[in-house]
Amino acid sequence: MTYARDHHYSVVAIDNLPGAHPLESFVLPRRAILLFGQEGSGLSADAREAVDTVCSIAQFGSTRSINAGVAAGIAMHAWIRRHALS
Ligand SMILES: C[S@@+](CC[C@H](N)C(=O)[O-])C[C@H]1O[C@@H](n2cnc3c(N)ncnc32)[C@H](O)[C@@H]1O
Repeated sequence: MTYARDHHYSVVAIDNLPGAHPLESFVLPRRAILLFGQEGSGLSADAREAVDTVCSIAQFGSTRSINAGVAAGIAMHAWIRRHALS
């Protein structure tokens, strides 16, 4: 977190926590560090407190969460769509 602050990055956690911003409508900052949780336990309490914001990925159906690798691909592609193509 010190590195992020010192280098002017926002740390954006990606997790399906209560109160998270929907990734589909959230504008990811260009200078973003994306943080993902562990399979099973998700983000630690310390990580939840340290990040600047949390974004969730919409799901359809009864599955509570997708795996971290899938979530990472979706979130990184959201950043690419916003910042890397123009
Ligand atoms: C399998 S999930 C486990 C924790 C999750 N909070 C849960 O309810 O089961 C592992 C990681 O994948 C990511 N992830 C899974 N589903 C997600 C979703 N719908 N939105 C955002 N991130 C998600 C998060 O980084 C999460 O910490």
